[in-house]
Amino acid sequence: MEKLWAGRTTGANAALADAFNRSIAFDARMVEEDIAGSMAHAAMLAAVGILPQESADNILAGLEGILNDLKCGLITIDPLAEDIHSFVEFELTRRIGDDGKKLHTARSRNDQVALDLRLTLKKEIVELVSLTKSLIAAIADVAEQHKETVMPGYTHLQRAQPVTFGHWILAYAFMLSRDISRLNNAQDNMNLSPLGACAFAGTTYPIDRGMTAQSLGFAGTLPNSVDAVADRDFCVELASALTMLMTHLSRFSEEIILWTSWEFRFVELSDAFSTGSSIMPQKKNSDMAELVRGKTGRVFGDLIALLTTMKGLPLAYNKDLQEDKEAIFDAIDTAKMCLAVFAPMIATMTVKPENMRKAAAEGFINATDAADYLVKKGMPFRTAYKITGQLVAHCIATRQTLETLPLADYQAQSPLFTDDIYEAVNLDTCVKSRISEGGTSPESVTAQIQQIRESLLK
Ligand code: ARG
Repeated sequence: MEKLWAGRTTGANAALADAFNRSIAFDARMVEEDIAGSMAHAAMLAAVGILPQESADNILAGLEGILNDLKCGLITIDPLAEDIHSFVEFELTRRIGDDGKKLHTARSRNDQVALDLRLTLKKEIVELVSLTKSLIAAIADVAEQHKETVMPGYTHLQRAQPVTFGHWILAYAFMLSRDISRLNNAQDNMNLSPLGACAFAGTTYPIDRGMTAQSLGFAGTLPNSVDAVADRDFCVELASALTMLMTHLSRFSEEIILWTSWEFRFVELSDAFSTGSSIMPQKKNSDMAELVRGKTGRVFGDLIALLTTMKGLPLAYNKDLQEDKEAIFDAIDTAKMCLAVFAPMIATMTVKPENMRKAAAEGFINATDAADYLVKKGMPFRTAYKITGQLVAHCIATRQTLETLPLADYQAQSPLFTDDIYEAVNLDTCVKSRISEGGTSPESVTAQIQQIRESLLK
């Protein structure tokens, strides 16, 4: 395969060197962005008089033809081309002759690849945000159905205080909504065009960088041409947002895996999103959630790969930067797949309120409410805390619960206890009375659901 850069050398690489150097296998996915960038560049070259309008028109028609033929399968991308930029330029020249060779005036593959990657990532972020929104919407729907479903809330994985299932899982919706902000921030930060930086030093031609930036949908141009071709901080920033997103999904997955275990039995995943065992006939496994948890590590790896690629690089472009694409594309594809699976997995799971209620009734999770009961009757909290702790110890020793403990036993600890203690430690009362903003009462949860749904409209 001929090289764009044959001249100083013959370009006749050893087959092994060719294969090693080639990036077409992973940069082919930027073909539409590469063609869009070339079209904007050609139009600008004509507008400022660097290229005759007729040549630009030939180039534009040629590029459009390539795009159309690719889309309807009339041609395929040559897997032996060095990279997507070489493929498009060779194909153009094959079609329109010498005008095709004029396209690369006042441009380098360095600013070209920095442009293609920014355009590709901007588009991918739109999809990532939309998938994240779908998952948030699915969580909000489940939360709506379960804003009165009582379950034990945990700290240290020990039953701690009663909450509703709706309240608990809404926590993930709010985490994910911040992930959307981080994705959008990353998109804003990469929204400046590197095109026109050329190799790194700019050019002697009177190009109009603002024109190409605007026609490609950027908010402006990168002010320094060395920076424009040398940095990949925008990949790192996106990868970083994705590691946080994956961390949230992984944590959520871990809970789903726990909840679907026989020990919890809070949730059952639909058959469509669970698997079996090849040997144990009784098994129903939460493989989708486990895979999300597992794939989180690989996205962390992508971030570290990008950072490591960057950390020792002298300015400006170095071929090491070719490593950026596989890492960031892997992070994107992995996150997209995980988000896509998660939403229907959540939407189709069966929640088991009776099992949650049973677990909630067993762990003295209303002890804080018993202490608060004494506080409301005038006792200092620390004293109330101690008395309640002693009551719990007494219950454990005599196999009782705070709901079933006779009033006489309560009163043996404090005369402030009267009959209304049973109402105070009733789990539904405990949940319903946590009316503070952001709290677990059904009305607080309703407000949270409304807030998260409104955020989806933005
Ligand atoms: N395939 C290269 C990359 O991904 C394109 C840029 C090549 N530039 C160069 N000076 N060799 O980075």
